[in-house]
Amino acid sequence: MAPSLNSTLEANGNSNDGKSPDVNWEEMGFSLTPTDYMYVMKCSIGDNFSQGSLIPFGNIELSPCSGILNYGQGLFEGLKAYRKEDGRILLFRPEQNALRMKAGAERLCMPSPSIEQFVDAVKQAVLANERWVPPFGKGSMYVRPLLMGSGASLGLGPAPEYTFLVYVSPVGSYHKGQRSLNLVVEEKQHRASPGGTGGIKTVANYSPVLDALTRAKAQGFSEVLFLDATTGKYIDEGSACNIFSVKGNSISTPPTHGTILPGITRKSIIEIARKLGYQVEERPVALDELLDADEVFCTGTAVVVTSIGSVTHQGRRVEYKTQADTVCQKLRETLTGIQMGGLEDTMGWMVEV
Ligand code: COI
Repeated sequence: MAPSLNSTLEANGNSNDGKSPDVNWEEMGFSLTPTDYMYVMKCSIGDNFSQGSLIPFGNIELSPCSGILNYGQGLFEGLKAYRKEDGRILLFRPEQNALRMKAGAERLCMPSPSIEQFVDAVKQAVLANERWVPPFGKGSMYVRPLLMGSGASLGLGPAPEYTFLVYVSPVGSYHKGQRSLNLVVEEKQHRASPGGTGGIKTVANYSPVLDALTRAKAQGFSEVLFLDATTGKYIDEGSACNIFSVKGNSISTPPTHGTILPGITRKSIIEIARKLGYQVEERPVALDELLDADEVFCTGTAVVVTSIGSVTHQGRRVEYKTQADTVCQKLRETLTGIQMGGLEDTMGWMVEV
C-alpha cells in the first residue's frame, strides 16, 4: 500500500499538523525554509500538460541525462503571496508570471502549462503550505515555479519529457539589513547579448553572473551592474533586478527588446509612476546618464523596489539620494501598499488564493 501523504511528510521531517511553524518571522532573510508540499505536473513532448498533484516537498529524481542537467533546458519564475491584515492570502499578478513562462518555453522549445494551470498550481502550492505564509507585515511567501526538460536526451535536442514544479518558502528582505545598495559596474563580462536569452527567465542566465557578483561582493559591493554587450556604453541590468534612473520628474529604464528581463515589478512600477505623474521612458540609458542621475533604484520580485546608494565605475564612486522623500520611496510605498492590502488595488493586480 502506498504511504499516506502525512506519513511521507513525517518521514521527510515535515509534519503538516496545521500548527504554526517554528520560524522567527522577524529574522527572515531570503533563504530556503523547507515547507510541506510542492506541486508537480509532467508531460511528454508533443503533449499538453494536463493533471498535476501536490506531493511532499523534497528532492526529486532526474535522469543524469535530463535536458535541464545537460543542456540547461529550464526556466524559473518568482512571485510572492502576502497575508493581509484580515488573514486572506493574495498573490501579485500571477498570470503575468504564467505569460512570461510561456514566452520563455517557446524560446527553449518546451511545452508550458496554460495560464489557468499555472495560476491554479501556484494557488494549490500556497494553500497547501498556508501555515508558512508569514503573518501580516512580516514578510511574504516566495513562490518558485520551475519548468524543465526532465527527460533524457544525450544528443542535443529538446528533451522527451517536461516537469512543471512549484515550491514555496517564506522570505524576508533579499538584501537584509541594507536600506540601499552599492553597485559596481562590471567591465569584463556581460549577462546578455542581442539574439540571446536575456529577455527570458532561463536558469542559464543566472550562473553566468555569479563570477561578477562574487567579485563585487568580495570588494564590499551589494550588487553588480552589467553593461550592454554591443557597445559597453548603456546599462543592462543587475544580477537579479532591473535598473531605473531618475532625473527630476523623469524616470528612465532600458527597454525589454531582447536583453532585458521583462520584470513584473518593473512593469508595475512603470504603471504606478505614470499614474503618479512621472514621465517614464523605456529607452537605452547610457552609463554616463546614470552616473549623472539624481536617484537610481532597482526592481524585482525578490528585491521589490530598492534604492541604489552608489554606483562605482572604474574606481569612481557616484552617490545618489536615498533618504526620505525619494521617488523610489514613493513608488515602493504605493506598490507594497497594494501588495499588502493597505492601498486600494485599483488596477486589479491582486488575486486571492
Ligand atoms: C526574483 O526576483 O524573483 C528573481 O528571480 C531573482 C532571483 C535571482 C532571486
